Amino acid sequence: MSGRLDGKVAIVTGGGSGIGRASALTFLREGARVVIAEVDADRGARGAQEITEQGGEALAVTVDVADQDGVAAMTDAAVEHFGKLDILFCNASGPPAGPFRDHSQNHNHGGDNQRPLQNPFQSHPPYILRRRSGS
Ligand SMILES: NC(=O)c1ccc[n+]([C@@H]2O[C@H](COP(=O)([O-])OP(=O)(O)OC[C@H]3O[C@@H](n4cnc5c(N)ncnc54)[C@H](O)[C@@H]3O)[C@@H](O)[C@H]2O)c1
Repeated sequence: MSGRLDGKVAIVTGGGSGIGRASALTFLREGARVVIAEVDADRGARGAQEITEQGGEALAVTVDVADQDGVAAMTDAAVEHFGKLDILFCNASGPPAGPFRDHSQNHNHGGDNQRPLQNPFQSHPPYILRRRSGS
């Protein structure tokens, strides 16, 4: 396998379903090793298995991205398993599909509702800054 992400390690939050699953498979096709970070352990395991069945390398990590400690453990697990981390795709737990004007207060873009998206961003920079590479 060869592609634009050869040798890269990518975490995809919510990688067991929908957009995350499709993205994880795209990363695989481009040569990345993929961490499927899922709140649903069965989905995570299935997602990782799908990647290994296609000849790739994958790790399933069970995590709720709203849990900052859990997110830190997710990042550590990825680095421990693959030796580094290049890409973080914060896919899980964003706003629902549909126009922003229709979003409820529970899915607005302020306050604690941003934590599921902010947590992974805060755990990731130390790795990419140390290596001066990543996204
Ligand atoms: N589908 C769309 O048109 C659309 C549009 C705008 C935004 N989004 C957002 O994009 C993301 C993915 O959408 P989708 O349609 O693929 O959804 P999906 O429900 O098919 O997949 C989301 C995955 O994320 C996992 N997940 C949910 N909460 C989690 C958490 N707290 N921690 C870790 N994993 C978690 C779920 O188990 C699931 O496997 C969602 O955040 C969604 O709100 C989707």
